[in-house]
Amino acid sequence: MWADLRPIGRSPATGGYRRFAWTGADTDCRAWFRAQAESRGLTYELDRNGNQWAWLGDPTAGDAVVTGSHLDSVPDGGAFDGPLGVVSSFAALDELGARGARPAKPLAVVNFGDEEGARFGVACVGSRLAAGLLTPAQARELRDSDGLTLPQAMERAGYDPGAIGPDPERLARIGAFIELHIEQGRALALPSEGPVGGTGSPVGVASAIWPHGRWRFDFHGEANHAGTTRIEDRRDPMLTYADTVLAARTTARLAGALATFGKVSVEPGGVNAIASLVRGWLDSRAADEETLVAVVDGIQRAAVERGTLDGVEVSVTRESFTPVVEFAHGLRDTLASLLGRDGTPVPLLPTGAGHDAGILSASVPTAMLFVRNPTGVSHSPAETAAEDDCLAGVQALADVLEGLACH
Ligand code: GLV
Ligand code: MN
Ligand code: MN
Repeated sequence: MWADLRPIGRSPATGGYRRFAWTGADTDCRAWFRAQAESRGLTYELDRNGNQWAWLGDPTAGDAVVTGSHLDSVPDGGAFDGPLGVVSSFAALDELGARGARPAKPLAVVNFGDEEGARFGVACVGSRLAAGLLTPAQARELRDSDGLTLPQAMERAGYDPGAIGPDPERLARIGAFIELHIEQGRALALPSEGPVGGTGSPVGVASAIWPHGRWRFDFHGEANHAGTTRIEDRRDPMLTYADTVLAARTTARLAGALATFGKVSVEPGGVNAIASLVRGWLDSRAADEETLVAVVDGIQRAAVERGTLDGVEVSVTRESFTPVVEFAHGLRDTLASLLGRDGTPVPLLPTGAGHDAGILSASVPTAMLFVRNPTGVSHSPAETAAEDDCLAGVQALADVLEGLACH
């Protein structure tokens, strides 16, 4: 499976993946998913929001145990964020077959569309639409950097966007959703940093997802000549932006939170012209919502204050927000007991990264498994995991599926 996926959407220059929603690379990943489903004799479905499903057993029977993740990537993403969950899900079904396990409930593997939000700015579009947390009207307004709307992009990829929207019937068929994911930190690799009983285990169970969101900061200044405009006559939005990046770092650090400006656009973007508009996208996350709101408010205040000095107008638009997710304790405890059978307790850890599992957790009992990441690096071509740990992840996922769905 890895050999087939490896070349898809990989930049030869960086070795990173550029598998953005509804692009050719995404289409190739989707074709791979469908082929994996069909080669195993699983029932393949593409839902109204473009999420793919592969069913073992009757899709309509209800109380299904579903596993999976996503195949899209951030710009220059690693190989594991997303695909490890999908590959491990198919491998875990194979493992159940090899064990001779007899499922008493339907099992499914899912590939949620557009998890990273790299193209249209909002993360987890496929699961958010299904769960009713993004309305079809909001989704239709989303545009990529070329101005193409989400429905236009879907159509160009050969998919009919006419029926996007809440899918409560489909979600009601799910009795439990388990997402396996590479850990995006080093809690498993560095036991002393594990928040709860890290034991150097290759696999952990998620306790919670920090609340997080994305905010677009628009800094409006005045375009002018770089060689003739006196310093005191300038209204340079780049200055306000730069100061805001520093303020974000300080504000987040003091609050024990995270704040990142990872994307910026400059208009008109001439070397010899003062910019007229700088747009910076802030990603901020914190252990609790109150802290997150206070951090973003603080950054916004700092931006406006600095803008007053620079003659720059600042406006802030919240593009997405995901509240804190505390995974269902019942399912989480079931996973811990299924995986701790040999007497070694499985580590329980929170994460700052967003996931479809977090989105679904409002409507479906949901849990996550993390596979050790030796460097903690993610959203980078350097992301890696040891093969033995990935195989331990498959065994753990198979144990969970067997415990939840089989006789
Ligand atoms: C998704 O990986 C996110 O946390 O942004
Ligand atoms: Mn990611
Ligand atoms: Mn992911």
